[in-house]
Amino acid sequence: MGLALSLALALSRPSDAGAQAPPPPSDATVDARVDALLAQMNPEEKAGQLSQYFYFVQSPPMAAAIEQQMKAGRVGAVLFTTDPRQVNRAQRIAIEQSRLKIPLLFGFDVVHGFRTIFPAPIGMAASWDPALVERSQAIAAREARAAGMHWAFGPMVDITLDPRWGRVFEGAGEDPFLGSAMAAAQVRGFQGPYIGAPDHIIAGPKHFAGYGAALGGRDYDEAEISDQQLHNLYLPPFKAAVEAGAGNIMAAYMALNGVPAAANRWLLTDVLRKEWGFKGWVVSDAGGVASLVTHGVARDGAEAALKALGAGTNMEMIPPGQAATMPAVAAAVAEGKLPAAQLDAAVRPILAAKFRLGLFEQPYVDEARAEAVMNDPAHRVAARVAAERSAVLLRNEGAVLPLDRTRLRSLAVIGPLADSARDIMGSWVFDLNHPQARSVLAGIRAKLGPGVRVDHAEGVRIPPRLHPSPMAALERNKPAPPPLDETAGIARAVELARQADAAVLVLGETQEMSGEMASRATFDLPGRQRELLDAVTATGKPVIVVLMTVRPLTIHDSKAPAILDVWYPGSEGGEAVANLLFGDATPGGKLPYTWVRSAAQLPMTYARLPSHDPARADQRYQEASNAPAWPFGFGLSYTTFAYSRLTVLTPKVRPGEPVSVTVDLTNTGSRPGEEVAQLYLHQRLGEASRPVRQLKGFQRVALKPGETRTLRFTITPADLRYWNAARRDWVAEASPFDLWIGGSSAAELGGSFAVAP
Ligand code: BGC
Repeated sequence: MGLALSLALALSRPSDAGAQAPPPPSDATVDARVDALLAQMNPEEKAGQLSQYFYFVQSPPMAAAIEQQMKAGRVGAVLFTTDPRQVNRAQRIAIEQSRLKIPLLFGFDVVHGFRTIFPAPIGMAASWDPALVERSQAIAAREARAAGMHWAFGPMVDITLDPRWGRVFEGAGEDPFLGSAMAAAQVRGFQGPYIGAPDHIIAGPKHFAGYGAALGGRDYDEAEISDQQLHNLYLPPFKAAVEAGAGNIMAAYMALNGVPAAANRWLLTDVLRKEWGFKGWVVSDAGGVASLVTHGVARDGAEAALKALGAGTNMEMIPPGQAATMPAVAAAVAEGKLPAAQLDAAVRPILAAKFRLGLFEQPYVDEARAEAVMNDPAHRVAARVAAERSAVLLRNEGAVLPLDRTRLRSLAVIGPLADSARDIMGSWVFDLNHPQARSVLAGIRAKLGPGVRVDHAEGVRIPPRLHPSPMAALERNKPAPPPLDETAGIARAVELARQADAAVLVLGETQEMSGEMASRATFDLPGRQRELLDAVTATGKPVIVVLMTVRPLTIHDSKAPAILDVWYPGSEGGEAVANLLFGDATPGGKLPYTWVRSAAQLPMTYARLPSHDPARADQRYQEASNAPAWPFGFGLSYTTFAYSRLTVLTPKVRPGEPVSVTVDLTNTGSRPGEEVAQLYLHQRLGEASRPVRQLKGFQRVALKPGETRTLRFTITPADLRYWNAARRDWVAEASPFDLWIGGSSAAELGGSFAVAP
């Protein structure tokens, strides 16, 4: 089946649920139903709706305790139950054994797929293809909904300038313009046209706000963010997600400028609800309400609950073994310490979500259909295409890539990640059933068939973490590998490379080295991988490094002629990487962050301010350049592109008018390929110093060899606004502006325009 056809089928196929789905109810209908239900509820039941429990059926005593609460009507939502049979069982308890029969909401970390695993979100961002991202999350939603999920704890839209932070995995990198496009696309993909649309789930953008600015990249540590950075850098993707209709928001763990997010009234009420008009519900991060005590802003759980509620948190996510704090809210109402209306206001959007999802009419899932949906082959095709489109080619000296399959007789596939079907999926994948996941080695073998000799050596092993991952307990199916003599392993890898026509080294970080509580202090290839790489490169054979990581690992100083970053490409990554290596797919992704030379350069952004001494901006350290290894937006193709004839159609505009620019893009090579044309702006004059460049437009374009296309960019008045720390407000200033269009943030072809009254 052709790609276009299978994707179209995957997305258009009406589901059984879809076929029966009534049209979405009006706001007035939902409000009336919420009011009627609230009128029957006692304060304990209302507080119950504000409680979301981790519900691990694998742990019977814990599950039994939560089931007691369900029967008492004191559970609004659960998380981490993903098996449709268990979902139905729990839902039956809530509905058949509780007084008011209110269905449960099932939430889960649908981060980059459910059964079918798509590339790491940072890789999806590297596709610079919002339509692809939207389709991918729509597929993830379709699988999740079929299994009984109603709500994704995602997208994660936290900007970070510091990829030491392990959660760089889940975001879109350093840029607010790209980040906003990815945030909105994911919300649309998860939710579809409206909340409650068949085959879709509610999106919960997280972690509001500033989590990516954790000091030193150390997960959970505080974020100290200036006003101008908050408004111009960290908040825009959240705003974009809210504007796209996100039904939920998750408050962050950390303290933002000293005030913990879950108790931050300015964030959760003033900005989110009053300024942006958010109508959904806010959930705390896991334990984020109780941890107001740890933060030192609440004496005990009861005070924490009241503070969180008062700030604008609706629901508490309760970690395994912890007691709920929200019952304190019911007690406060009973004692007259909290107006009943405030509790009702907190419950309302949660009940509204349940009505919109149609849970009162159809709370259960069809278990057989769930399995069929999750095994839909079109989903796998889509995940494979996503993996191909997210790859970034960092180096390709002497056009080593693509490898010519017709000439190749033998290939050495080397490295600790070459044959891992687990690492290829990345983190935020639990031991659900992912039988289809294939390693890079398996993908290469399947592609080449018996005619080409493919030898494999692990070479070295990636050492375990000093502090184990909190997710390790969920990796129940992981067998312990036999011991490996790494010195002999390197010698064997060198020997295989010598005997082969070319060597592919799959290097990087294991999946548990990124994600939550997975920060790193250095970007060295962990363990003895660099030694392995240098030894194999020294054979003089064509060496291709396939990097599996979400960090800018220090590799620019290696002599390997080709470096292809595939992030964690997902369950179909084996096939995708093989397609890329042999030219059945062409890399077209671009870096969503600056690729630093070492972690010592962090935090880093291409969008820095001009500074006192711009000429020596790359000489800020005495012992080494602080220029990046590869700039933001960079990525090569198997073909080449040229930009020409940049024309500013509106060289002079008044404030509030759009600016139009055209540029010609030509495929100057001999293969078809895709280029991401990027537009950067610089405001020359203003009351505040403005970044040397800021991304304000991009288009991913496919061109045949020799083809030229004229691209048109429109810069909107909103693109010219910024939050000004001198005025403490948004401003749009009259100024000359410089602009550049090209294939990275180092684009040279430029022009200018002026905004003048
Ligand atoms: C993470 C969230 C996640 C939640 C539930 C927390 O520890 O910070 O991102 O959604 O756990 O898994």
